[in-house]
Amino acid sequence: MEKIAIYPGSFDPVTNGHLDMIERGLKIFDKIIVAILVNLEKDSLFSVEERTEMLEISLKKFSNVEVDTFDGLLVDYAAKRKVHAILRGLRAVSDFEYEFQMAMMNRRLNREIQSVFLMTGLRWIFTSSSIIKEAAKFGGNISDMVPQVVTEKLKEKFKQPH
Ligand code: PNS
Repeated sequence: MEKIAIYPGSFDPVTNGHLDMIERGLKIFDKIIVAILVNLEKDSLFSVEERTEMLEISLKKFSNVEVDTFDGLLVDYAAKRKVHAILRGLRAVSDFEYEFQMAMMNRRLNREIQSVFLMTGLRWIFTSSSIIKEAAKFGGNISDMVPQVVTEKLKEKFKQPH
């Protein structure tokens, strides 16, 4: 049977840390579904369409990675897709409490779905979409932390001189 995992997140925007996690996940799973949360309340920098496009471009070399969107509960989406594993990355210790809480809630909501955690590569321990957006907003060079398409999109968003 094919082993599939859902890798959920906001991906606003995708970072090299996310890509590293997907590559690690593919060493364990046959297929990964990257699932973008469509959350109207959360104000994101990029639209769902833009986030999807950046992910698709960054992941085009992997034939066994699918990019999809979901709304509502993650466990309901997983059940709908008939997937039993949720993949999440852990960076510093500070991630643990939030991830633990979320995994416990997800387990309570659906006991059939397991959360699987992998450690982020050391290089990406301090990389996050929000810190990258903050740096890019004020003209910081973030090009070694995100795929090229994201660097370009961030430049466009914040209208920096090229
Ligand atoms: O990249 P993020 O923003 O840390 O990802 C968070 C995400 C999308 C995994 C999480 O917010 C989520 O699963 N949201 C959907 C609603 C849900 O099922 N919440 C968890 C149990 S209440």
